Amino acid sequence: MDTTFTNLVGCTAPIQLAGMGPVCSDELCAAVSEAGGLGMITVAATSPDTLEGRLDHIRRLTSRPVGTNFLVPAVDRECLRIAARSVRVVDFFWGDPDPELVSIAHAGGALVSWQVGSVHEARAAEKAGCDFIIAQGIEAGGHIRGTLGLLPVLTHVLDAVGVPVLAAGGVGNGRTFNAVLAAGAAGARCGTRFVAATESGAHPAYVAALVRADADEAVRTSLYNVGCPLCPSTHGVLRSAIEAAQALSGEMAGEMRMGDQVMPVRRFQGVPTPVKAMSGHIEAMCCYAGQSVGDVHGVKPAAAIVRELTGQV
Ligand SMILES: Cc1cc2nc3c(=O)[nH]c(=O)nc-3n(C[C@H](O)[C@H](O)[C@H](O)COP(=O)(O)O)c2cc1C
Repeated sequence: MDTTFTNLVGCTAPIQLAGMGPVCSDELCAAVSEAGGLGMITVAATSPDTLEGRLDHIRRLTSRPVGTNFLVPAVDRECLRIAARSVRVVDFFWGDPDPELVSIAHAGGALVSWQVGSVHEARAAEKAGCDFIIAQGIEAGGHIRGTLGLLPVLTHVLDAVGVPVLAAGGVGNGRTFNAVLAAGAAGARCGTRFVAATESGAHPAYVAALVRADADEAVRTSLYNVGCPLCPSTHGVLRSAIEAAQALSGEMAGEMRMGDQVMPVRRFQGVPTPVKAMSGHIEAMCCYAGQSVGDVHGVKPAAAIVRELTGQV
């Protein structure tokens, strides 16, 4: 399936895996790329050595294009330079488009994408030199940048910029995928669907909660703001998680193991998303979900999700 995005990036399916912190395991990133899409990892709280190791590992899993996602409040410039030398796409979110970050990524040889929530931000991203833009609607899971639904923000961004534009937020089945292509998008960036991929790093209890939820159980809130560098923010999360967190008696939701370290996970902590290294009240943690959660009916390999979205089933 050819679009301006696939031609630019060199992939065959117009799907970008959303950066999703530790949910984006090396295996999930590689599996999406192997299926023809653009696999991504998020680089946050990562040392340069760890990043080099992850990129080497991903290279052993796939030789297809992959990308790295950076959250603007926490960009480590050394990691950015390493990523830019190794991956096809360097992606940014959650900050004003910054020509300096774009030029560092370009200098390493990567293409640059920026996820935006408004037309104003899209114009700034194009002016900063971005090669493609992702227009995010408020249907999205995780942190929501703007205030518009997907079709209004997508179509206005398409009118405002000349670079390819992907659609993000609520795209979880073949119909919504075709709808955004019909509206002019060059592809879709999908997150929630891939949380429930076989290769995902998400905690099984979080995935089970996604499988149980209908689309209207993904709600927008600002409650998961504890220890979150992206807050204050609006975020798309499961209603059941909010209710479970409200029902907790203390201020702790559980803990996370990182090597020898055990770190507390506090009630309403906003990062990271519940992953396998966590224990405790997983159902009360930040179980981010967009309205596409209504399309999560079970756990499937990432390749099957890519095929389902692009109608190759
Ligand atoms: C669990 C989860 C974690 C997310 N974490 C990030 C992140 O680390 N970086 C980022 O750019 N976007 C993040 N997002 C937002 C996505 O980039 C994207 O906008 C969103 O997933 C699109 O909506 P969808 O979930 O309905 O597909 C996250 C989304 C989810 C669901």
